[in-house]
Amino acid sequence: MAVEHSAGALAGKVALVTGAGRGIGRAIAQRLARDGALVGVHYGHSETAALEAVVEIRAEGGRAFALGARLGVPGDAEAVFAAFDAGVRGEGEAGAPGAPGGLDGRGERGERGERGERGEPSEADARGVGGVRGVLDILVNNAGVSGSGPVGRATPEVFDRMMAVNAKAPFFLVQQALPRMRDGGRVINVSSLASRRAFPESLAYAMSKGALDTMTLCLAKELAGRGITVNAIGPGFIETDMNARRRETPQDRAALAARSAFGRIGSPADVADVVAFLASDDARWITGQYLDVSGGTDL
Ligand SMILES: NC(=O)c1ccc[n+]([C@@H]2O[C@H](COP(=O)([O-])OP(=O)(O)OC[C@H]3O[C@@H](n4cnc5c(N)ncnc54)[C@H](OP(=O)(O)O)[C@@H]3O)[C@@H](O)[C@H]2O)c1
Repeated sequence: MAVEHSAGALAGKVALVTGAGRGIGRAIAQRLARDGALVGVHYGHSETAALEAVVEIRAEGGRAFALGARLGVPGDAEAVFAAFDAGVRGEGEAGAPGAPGGLDGRGERGERGERGERGEPSEADARGVGGVRGVLDILVNNAGVSGSGPVGRATPEVFDRMMAVNAKAPFFLVQQALPRMRDGGRVINVSSLASRRAFPESLAYAMSKGALDTMTLCLAKELAGRGITVNAIGPGFIETDMNARRRETPQDRAALAARSAFGRIGSPADVADVVAFLASDDARWITGQYLDVSGGTDL
């Protein structure tokens, strides 16, 4: 049954969640939409999953569109926002009618390669479709990659990839977001417990999340004048593809679960609910913080 979303805590807000086709990002997109936000469901590779997420959100009475652009490559942030602007415009939020965002959940693909398949980009494409900037209230930097291994196994390529996707992309996404973001906005960075506890088995990953935490602190100071809060959250072990290798056997699962004070592995919704709080007006007096969302892991 369709639910009425327009009266929720985020009614009238526009959100962008990166990496929202699957895992934690998908749960965040669903929750923000349930609270009334129009949500840009970004994906890098998982287009089908992102389209499914949009269809699910719409079936529940929410509003969402999908947008694709790979992170960690040159021009990634610009590509995300060109696609985001087109999607927002398609939803009629930027004051200009008639753009993509049809009933199949498809927004716009921002990657140059994809555009190339359709022919040369038009001048309008290059400026964002119609040259109209989307409006934005909530940016959730969720997309991330892990699996860097310990220092002894590290390679420059893997190190660069961790930094490019987990730290550099969020940095430039914020840069692109700010001219679009309305006063009172929210930046929420999905960090990790790994930046606060020793996690030598994935050192470059942990370092990239440390960079995200530092960005959070500095930006909070800079953006407070606009009423924009900037916070990071640190999930512990959450049941997603990212750590599937760590819970292949019942024994592995039990060992992972035992690290939480609650004796279980977290669910994506455990994280999404905290993001919804930080995105809401109730969290207006919280900024520059790292919020542990690990279910009391290794207390
Ligand atoms: N799961 C955990 O235990 C855990 C714990 C602490 C922190 N985290 C953090 O939580 C966030 C979400 O992770 P998850 O657990 O949901 O992992 P996941 O299931 O592996 O999902 C990762 C997401 O990031 C996106 N992504 C990865 N590389 C990308 C790229 N190059 N370009 C664009 N998008 C990319 C993926 O989108 P596509 O498939 O579309 O590329 C996917 O939606 C990450 O930042 C992660 O570091 C997770």
